[in-house]
Amino acid sequence: MMNLLYEGKAKQLYSCEEPDKVYVHYKNSATAFNGIKKEEFEKKGVLNNTITSLIFNYLENAGVRTHFIEKVNDTDQICQHVTIIPLEVIIRNIVAGSMAKKYGLPEGQVLAKPVFELSYKNDALGDPLINDDHAVALHIVTEDELAFIKFQALRINMLLQEFFLKANLTLVDFKIEFGKTKNNQIILADEISPDTCRLWEVGTQEKFDKDRFRRDLGGVMEAYEEVLRRLTHE
Ligand code: TMP
Ligand code: ASP
Repeated sequence: MMNLLYEGKAKQLYSCEEPDKVYVHYKNSATAFNGIKKEEFEKKGVLNNTITSLIFNYLENAGVRTHFIEKVNDTDQICQHVTIIPLEVIIRNIVAGSMAKKYGLPEGQVLAKPVFELSYKNDALGDPLINDDHAVALHIVTEDELAFIKFQALRINMLLQEFFLKANLTLVDFKIEFGKTKNNQIILADEISPDTCRLWEVGTQEKFDKDRFRRDLGGVMEAYEEVLRRLTHE
């Protein structure tokens, strides 16, 4: 008998017989603007579970430690049980989304270097942007932990850029989360999918990510399906 441990906007976490593991179910719900906009998409759970499994497998093979253990069926995976560090770690290669809005910049401007950004993961506050000093001063992470998280995030950026480029997609920006194991090791957790990345087709700059939903562009699941097709067939 599995007990629901946590329900987020896109996933449910259940306990496993082994206390070190959790059973992760990918839901069909899509949300944006902190849950204000919401819609169900029939295939979303399957697509994001499959895409995340593929990406976490790739990262593990490249030497990045993650919570991912195995995909057990279309919508579910088994992962290591971690305590999520309440930081949304964002890396940007190209100006888009909130960065374009905040600084009045055109979307598409290539950044001189990847930008490492942190938000405090707190739905009630709307995940406010914080800086490195806030994260340490508020005891969210130590200096050393933050340095490790930044190093890993930039490494993951390089690996993902290469991975998506093979599918003719530019990795514009993405959000990742890290968790702590019971041995206090920091490993990559949560998901990496078109929900959490901006992916633009090389050349046309067509969007293949959740901005299709956020901005009512249509063809949301078709875009996610195309990402999966390209990652597996090209
Ligand atoms: P932003 O431009 O809206 O700040 O988003 C930056 C990246 O983070 C983008 O790839 C989408 C992703 N993201 C999430 O995964 N979850 C979120 O709640 C938000 C706001 C962004
Ligand atoms: N996932 C976030 C929410 O629900 C925001 C987003 O991805 O745009 O609201």
